[in-house]
Amino acid sequence: MGTYRVEIHADAFARLKTMAEDVQRGLGARPRWLPPKYFYDARGSQLFDEITRLPEYYLTRVEDALLATHGPALVRELQPRDLVELGSGFSVKTRRLLAAGAEAGARLRYTPVDVDAETVAAAARVLMTAHPALDVHAVIGDFERHLVHVPPPVGRRLVLFLGSTIGNLDPPARENLLAQVRDLLGPDDQLLLGVDLVKDVAVLERAYDDAAGVTRAFNRNVLTVINRALGADFEPGAFRHHVRYDGMADRIEMHLVADTPQTVRVPALGLRVELEAGESIWTESSYKFTRPSVETMLAAAGLRLERWLTDPRDWFALVVAGVAPRAA
Ligand code: SAH
Ligand code: AVI
Repeated sequence: MGTYRVEIHADAFARLKTMAEDVQRGLGARPRWLPPKYFYDARGSQLFDEITRLPEYYLTRVEDALLATHGPALVRELQPRDLVELGSGFSVKTRRLLAAGAEAGARLRYTPVDVDAETVAAAARVLMTAHPALDVHAVIGDFERHLVHVPPPVGRRLVLFLGSTIGNLDPPARENLLAQVRDLLGPDDQLLLGVDLVKDVAVLERAYDDAAGVTRAFNRNVLTVINRALGADFEPGAFRHHVRYDGMADRIEMHLVADTPQTVRVPALGLRVELEAGESIWTESSYKFTRPSVETMLAAAGLRLERWLTDPRDWFALVVAGVAPRAA
């Protein structure tokens, strides 16, 4: 029988304190912003799960097809024993790798690292039912701050960072995170990174502004999360979901625009924010990549690209990276 452990490194109080600091800083800045990690309460994770099935949101489907095609060979070749996954969510695509590992007869330990405890618990139940011998050691916390709590490896390690979640971090933050990932890897270990690629702007904008309005609800959910946690009085419906592509920075931006003047109070912070008509809150960046930009990003963190696997349209890439040898 497999074992199940959970470590919580972002308890309710610590999470609230960090959120209060982020909200104070973000809403006080110009342009105003909020960090995307606050989308993911139970409802936000559910909405993201719906997004992954939308016709416009190709990312999950294309990455899943790449994992179906290349996963079994990658697992045979890399022979991981210790899977660590950052931003694991419902661990849906991970099932492909676990199934391939089970077929290869390996006993695996899986360490999901995610801020959303409920979603990780639901995912672990499904995985452990399908793979009774699987050991799960969940780390509930912020992958930018709590990777030091990933337990020591029990064998060859493969770190998964799928879904292009790396693209939700700005360049300095992702360099910092990848340097921490490098510290989790030994010379024979690998990172499997999913990245969304630069492509036709209309395809990108549609993926973040779907006809059914699920992404709009996901975007507004951050205001509901802040209302509940900090007693703020945002009216989510008064904010328009706005998406634009910045071709200089290679990123989709999601904003919430106040079409009429809005006064928002955040009593827990003693904060009152006056938004003018047309003013926006920048809620998420989703950077898009090219092979050279990925190589540069990896190199800055002491990693090197070993494999680049893409679909026929070059829409999404799975990247295998290892620790770069230090210059003599
Ligand atoms: N890997 C899954 C889920 C992606 S959604 C997929 O590819 O479909 C992004 C996930 O990352 C969510 O589960 C969210 O809770 C988590 N997440 C976002 N920011 C995080 C952070 N700073 N630390 C830990 N988890 C984070
Ligand atoms: C989790 N992350 C990679 C998603 C993305 O595509 O940037 C989050 C998302 N935002 C809007 N739709 C999906």
